[in-house]
Amino acid sequence: MIPRYLISFNTDTLPSVECDVLVAGSGVAGLSTALWLSRFCRVVLATKSGLQVSTTRVAQGGIAAVMDEHDSKESHVEDTLVAGAGLCDPEATAVLVDEGPDRVRELLEEYHADFDTTDGTLDLAREGGHSRARVVHAKGDATGLEVENALGRALLRDQRVHVMEHAFVVDLLLADGTCRGALLADRENSTLLTVWSRATVLASGGMGEVYLVTTNPPVCTGDGPAMAFRAGARVSDVEFVQFHPTALHIPEEPKFLISEAIRGEGALLVDVEGQRVMEGVHPLAELAPRDIVVARMVEVMREQQVNHLYLDVRHLDPERIRRRFPTIFEHCLEAGINITRQRIPVSPAAHYMSGGVVTDQWGQSDIPGLYACGEVACTGVHGANRLASNSLLEGLVFARRIASHVEDTLPGSPTTPGPPLSFSRRSVEPRVAEELLRGNLREVMLDNVGMVRSERSLKEARDFLAENADLLDTEYLDVDGMELKNMYMMSCLIASSALMREESRGCHRRRDFPETDEWNWRRHIDSRMAEGRVEVSTRPQPSRPPWELKVPASREE
Ligand code: SIN
Repeated sequence: MIPRYLISFNTDTLPSVECDVLVAGSGVAGLSTALWLSRFCRVVLATKSGLQVSTTRVAQGGIAAVMDEHDSKESHVEDTLVAGAGLCDPEATAVLVDEGPDRVRELLEEYHADFDTTDGTLDLAREGGHSRARVVHAKGDATGLEVENALGRALLRDQRVHVMEHAFVVDLLLADGTCRGALLADRENSTLLTVWSRATVLASGGMGEVYLVTTNPPVCTGDGPAMAFRAGARVSDVEFVQFHPTALHIPEEPKFLISEAIRGEGALLVDVEGQRVMEGVHPLAELAPRDIVVARMVEVMREQQVNHLYLDVRHLDPERIRRRFPTIFEHCLEAGINITRQRIPVSPAAHYMSGGVVTDQWGQSDIPGLYACGEVACTGVHGANRLASNSLLEGLVFARRIASHVEDTLPGSPTTPGPPLSFSRRSVEPRVAEELLRGNLREVMLDNVGMVRSERSLKEARDFLAENADLLDTEYLDVDGMELKNMYMMSCLIASSALMREESRGCHRRRDFPETDEWNWRRHIDSRMAEGRVEVSTRPQPSRPPWELKVPASREE
């Protein structure tokens, strides 16, 4: 039995706050949803750490959008569908691509984001899987930071958004099947409280921390999809965990991203002998979609019995490299590597959850009143593998859509406290100490449910997870313990979906099923919790050729 809630509580005894909409998360999705919503309602934005901590902040590459008259939306749609390996929702993809350019213009004009330009024209970079240069960037390789700063400045001026920092959203609260807000843990005062709302938006990011090596900050523990799952929402495509090919490989150090844009500028991916590893593997060579680059890297590293390869930029203009990639240049220099003179050691690291909480094109989950935006959501635009720089874009586009839907549908009556809700159980003693278990879990996930999987490795992971199932009945009162339960829950869903999918597609690679099985597996795996048990089903992805796509009517005025 999976408990419905992470901890025992009784809303009757807890302090409470009321607002129109609760937004959980402070990356691009959370900030921009809150800013759109605040134009017509009162918002509480809760973030588990400080406002300054998010995956958006460390995003380097940029925002993919058709901003150049020589580019076309058809081409961006096509590249996204190809990267998604047959599992993108074509309509949602068309929405993403169609509305993206307006969202980028708003960042420039309304929020004064300082994107890189030459003579007043946006500089556009090329990244893996894109057939054109279409990635807008800022300060060379600090795009996420610029977007966060621009939206963050606006948020701090906004009187209608109440920001709660260090507020961990523990669980969603439902009444009559509708989401009515959430239970929060105030980390600074070590207290619980309830936030009652008429709509709730999960924008809490991904789950990279589930893996021992990740480009994500440690806050990415899968809280959003895990709590939505416990509340009964459908979670899908979670087996498609994207590994970024090039994280700086320095043993024992957190993984620092080396942007794909560096390969767009001509960096070569080579082995220890200096041989290019992508040549002849894919027509786009180093710029092949990420899943293909990672699969090739794993193959070469296995053959050569090494744990990293190299990026080489020494043939490129050193001045341009320093100017175009100042963050990467400085970070590597601090680590003792002058990238204009030395090769950069790189290895893949968990980077992005392509699946998540299933939503429609307006960001609505299956639970009335619950929306999901950004990495936590499965809008269908990423399919089995996200195209580079489509993630900031997704956050911006669907934030606008969610706000527009909430504006049209928010119940007219003011928010009132929900009905009394409570939960209690007898806690079991933990078998394994919390920190040790977190480390073991991350290691097992990397070794067995990582870039290349097999029935054997997945069954080993399943056994490990089963042995530690008592963790779900342990009452951890600290946030680290609650995060561990979320990581555990996501690990169970990822491992079981990966075991079920007997094929290789996108970011899901099976050594024992190396081919893509269009006949049986052009399908999504959906998981949902019903009466404490996981219910799993599959759903076919209808294929539509891109030329048949109609962009759904926009709600914008
Ligand atoms: C990168 O800069 O390589 C990361 C961008 C992304 O994940 O889309």
